[in-house]
Amino acid sequence: MKKISFITLMLLAVTSMSFAQTITGTPHDMSAQAWNTMASNKLCGVCHTPHNAMAVSQAPLWSHTTSSTVYTMYTSAQSSTFNATPGAAPGGNSLLCLSCHDGTVALNNHIGNTLPLGSTLGVAYPTTTTLVGAALTNDHPISFTYDAALVTADGALRPITTAALGGTIATKMLFGGKMECASCHNPHNNQYTSFQRMTNNASQLCLTCHIK
Ligand code: HEC
Ligand code: HEC
Ligand code: HEC
Ligand code: HEC
Repeated sequence: MKKISFITLMLLAVTSMSFAQTITGTPHDMSAQAWNTMASNKLCGVCHTPHNAMAVSQAPLWSHTTSSTVYTMYTSAQSSTFNATPGAAPGGNSLLCLSCHDGTVALNNHIGNTLPLGSTLGVAYPTTTTLVGAALTNDHPISFTYDAALVTADGALRPITTAALGGTIATKMLFGGKMECASCHNPHNNQYTSFQRMTNNASQLCLTCHIK
């Protein structure tokens, strides 16, 4: 009896491991940080709160104070090849990533912490390669509409009806029709490293959208 339940447990453990694509243990798991003083919801709470969330556009129950940084958006070294028109500032869920990754808002500046909201005091973001900063000029362009007109203008983009991630580029990779950080990243799943949404072996991620 004991033996059977042990084997069952082992099997369960193995099965759940193969499906386990969770945030636990990834660089986004801040639950064990000394600064994480929340009584509960330690894992999700640095980014999400179940109640009284912040009013940020396209932010699912958002908890982390967003940044007031003025960003410089992408401009192409070859103006003739860049057809998209990003807005003046990042939008959608990109602002959520940048609330930590531009390095101006403390990591522990979220609902449920004692720091006054909006404060830049607290645990600073590490100045490593994970710091994207405020100059988005040298990062893949974000916060612009990717539609049929852009596909025509560019000439080497796949139509947004192309299959991707179990749906299409339009349904799975765009947010309000736009490219955002989360078009390429899934902040909850690090199985492909760098929180990429799929493997980029042989540039598979890039080739989902670009015909090159
Ligand atoms: C480091 C920040 C961060 C942490 C921690 C985090 N999330 Fe998120 N979450 C985000 C961002 C950013 C988005 C919006 C982008 C997206 O949809 O991928 C999001 C979107 C979501 C969404 C809506 C989109 C979807 O994938 O269904 C749900 C639901 C969600 N998170 C649940 C959770 C839960 C539950 C936890 C804790 C186990 C958690 N998140 C932890 C950053 C985080
Ligand atoms: C609450 C703050 C917070 C938010 C919000 C957040 N991150 Fe992070 N992220 C971190 C921290 C902290 C690390 C670990 C940094 C380090 O060790 O240098 C990290 C690491 C990463 C890494 C490196 C992962 C690796 O394998 O080393 C990537 C990629 C990343 N984040 C992307 C994103 C994206 C994209 C979003 C939005 C969808 C996002 N993050 C939202 C805090 C955040
Ligand atoms: C077009 C796809 C794409 C978009 C859009 C994108 N990234 Fe990335 N990002 C990647 C890939 C791919 C990597 C893996 C590292 C590499 O190949 O250089 C990465 C790496 C990172 C890293 C880790 C850097 C390191 O050296 O470990 C961070 C942090 C990050 N991205 C944050 C963001 C944020 C924040 C945004 C939005 C402002 C964003 N990314 C938008 C594709 C993208
Ligand atoms: C979800 C779709 C998508 C993914 C994934 C993606 N891109 Fe893009 N990328 C675009 C779109 C759309 C544009 C804007 C094209 C235009 O303006 O004509 C763009 C623009 C670019 C540009 C700028 C071109 C210029 O003229 O300045 C480069 C370079 C680029 N992508 C490379 C990459 C690389 C490398 C990857 C993989 C790491 C990648 N992209 C992943 C959709 C994507």
